[in-house]
Amino acid sequence: MSTPRILRAAIIGCGSYGAQHAQFLSGYAGVELRAVADIAGERAEDFAKKYGAGYATDEVAKVLADPEIDTVWICTQHHTHAPLAEQVAAAGKHFFLEKPLALTLVDCDRIVAAVERSGVMAASGFKLRFFPAVVAAKQFLTKPTLTVAQVIDDHWPADFWANDPIQGGGNVLSQGCHMVDTVLHLHPTSAVRVYAAGGNRHHPTRDIVDTASITLTFADGAVATVAVGDCGVPPHSSKFALQLSDGARSASLYNRLNSIMTREDGKVTEHPAWPEEGAAVIDTAFITALAEGKPSPVSVQSARRTTAVVLAAIESIKTGQAVDLTSGVYAAAMKV
Ligand SMILES: NC(=O)c1ccc[n+]([C@@H]2O[C@H](COP(=O)([O-])OP(=O)(O)OC[C@H]3O[C@@H](n4cnc5c(N)ncnc54)[C@H](O)[C@@H]3O)[C@@H](O)[C@H]2O)c1
Repeated sequence: MSTPRILRAAIIGCGSYGAQHAQFLSGYAGVELRAVADIAGERAEDFAKKYGAGYATDEVAKVLADPEIDTVWICTQHHTHAPLAEQVAAAGKHFFLEKPLALTLVDCDRIVAAVERSGVMAASGFKLRFFPAVVAAKQFLTKPTLTVAQVIDDHWPADFWANDPIQGGGNVLSQGCHMVDTVLHLHPTSAVRVYAAGGNRHHPTRDIVDTASITLTFADGAVATVAVGDCGVPPHSSKFALQLSDGARSASLYNRLNSIMTREDGKVTEHPAWPEEGAAVIDTAFITALAEGKPSPVSVQSARRTTAVVLAAIESIKTGQAVDLTSGVYAAAMKV
């Protein structure tokens, strides 16, 4: 009988989503949560007590130099993703990096290069790909021709860091990436063109795009629209919602993508809802791939592609022109 692999983990960034990962990792039999780090030392201390981590530190360098740590979860503000990922990869440690990969193509390229240089395994936090209803939709509709999706949240406070243009990038880059990623994941061919309209409708003090209606065209001729904004959760369809059809079949995902209804030959089937599991759904996929020596379940290349498409949408909003994803600055990032 083989011995289960013990992963010796550290978390960098002891904030709200670091807590989701800490909660899961601290209860997972195959993982030892050896360290937690945060530039706010007291936050790291509180985390270590609450989740039973081996030690707390306000120095990331201590985690990097610890030979007992083999895998690091990076759960910090977006402008820190590239420098931290570079350091963690250079230290020879595998890493899980929260979404979005980064806010610029330059930073995304830095992360991809760091992973390729070091040979570590790295994954980005696009957890919606692993929601059971999304997995079911991908199996049911392998070649959607028309997709309609949304991530529409309640109003984000102006002083929320995610609304800071440098730290967070605003709602469309910060949270819209979730649904753009899911749509790219569900379509079998590459997105080739983006046209978007929108702008800043709710945050006059911030230089960000907070509202977007994004239209994607895929290489096989399929089209998708993605609506993003922090303008009020739609009560019926919920914050995350998605519909796909292929001419014969269709599917509706709702209840934050925890429920799916399918329709085929006029017959509607409503499937029982799955409970939402927070970070567990993607941490399990990441840990399993590491333990079995398999490729990353969410490669940094695929996460770079998602940022590229969102940046192209923002460019389209600003110029009023459609953006060709097969040439120019975006083309390289579309290859996964
Ligand atoms: N997958 C999801 O559904 C989901 C949901 C929420 C947030 N997130 C992502 O998680 C990440 C963190 O978001 P959050 O809401 O937890 O933010 P947060 O502000 O609650 O926590 C971030 C923490 O990182 C620390 N930090 C910042 N820079 C650091 C550095 N250089 N070294 C060490 N610590 C540092 C901060 O002090 C803070 O404690 C972001 O990428 C965010 O987009 C993902």
